[in-house]
Amino acid sequence: MAKTPPPPSFLCIIILLSTFACLSESRLSTNYYARSCPRFNDIMRDTITNKQITSPTTAAGTLRLFFHDAILNGLDASILVSSTPFNKAERDADINLSLPGDAFDVVIRAKTALELQCPNTVSCADILAVATRDLVTMVGGPYYNVILGRKDGRISKASAVEGNLPKPTMPMSQIIEIFQKRNFTVQEMVALSGAHTIGFSHCKEFSSNIYNNTHYNPRFAQGLQRACADSQRNPTLSVFNDIMTPNKFDNLYYQNLPKGLGLLESDHGLNIDGSTKSYVEMYARDQNLFFRDFARAMEKLGVYGIKTGRRGEIRHRCDAIN
Ligand code: HEM
Repeated sequence: MAKTPPPPSFLCIIILLSTFACLSESRLSTNYYARSCPRFNDIMRDTITNKQITSPTTAAGTLRLFFHDAILNGLDASILVSSTPFNKAERDADINLSLPGDAFDVVIRAKTALELQCPNTVSCADILAVATRDLVTMVGGPYYNVILGRKDGRISKASAVEGNLPKPTMPMSQIIEIFQKRNFTVQEMVALSGAHTIGFSHCKEFSSNIYNNTHYNPRFAQGLQRACADSQRNPTLSVFNDIMTPNKFDNLYYQNLPKGLGLLESDHGLNIDGSTKSYVEMYARDQNLFFRDFARAMEKLGVYGIKTGRRGEIRHRCDAIN
């Protein structure tokens, strides 16, 4: 017996309802968890404060973790996923091996606490976004809004990393291209690079330049040669990115560059390249401007290419795809 088709108005209602469900599911907001996880902000604040006090290197590590996750294919916590026998994950790509354990740990701790309060609700990507903002603020950087409601990615591949993250050995034009491909301007790239106002770099990232390189202040170069003298035997040796105020988020990074006190070849490059130099000078003169532009660029990076609705998932554990 033939079935009678549903009346057209009924079909319209179904389509409207499912469209609405999709839209409301993918709507991002700063208070996304207000109803589903009312203690979200408190739990984040407690976890982050405890972690940063016991391990002060967490802030810089987390900021770099955020950058490496977000710039690749949107902030989706794909960098937190562990490798399996069948998949070499993003975090095991060469360039990511130096990301510090403390940065992963602060996200895992927040996730564990949040799962106890509100299971299967908060994405690891949102946790990484808020942790980064709060840690940047804790070390003196600007506050900015973090829009929430991202989903976690279902793919994490080391093979996707090569050539898509900047390296100090790359010419400035290649670094600029990595950002421009993702719609970030040269100015935004220079503002984001101000992140090197905190944290450190391992000797192997710059040691080949400290002997015959005219970009360094000679006394600084000698200091670096001493600091890294044993780095072949001890690869953990490292130096602060901003030797003047290493633990404070400020604009001294830009002031250091014209004095030859930049650490990485790419840091020096910002002060040499004709398309970036004027922004370095501008941010060296005006910290408020740097803070404003850094905050805006971080907001933009935090939503670039993110997954919402059914394009992602809420992971049960940050280190494993469901
Ligand atoms: C523009 C091109 C960039 C290059 C070539 C670059 C390269 C590097 C390298 C080689 C290190 C040292 C890593 C180590 O030895 O452990 C480092 C550290 C760091 N980078 Fe970048 N970076 C760039 C841009 C950025 C951006 C845009 C951010 C964030 C928005 C960022 C945040 C950091 C932080 C916070 C550290 C210190 C990490 C720590 O102390 O654990 N970098 N970067």
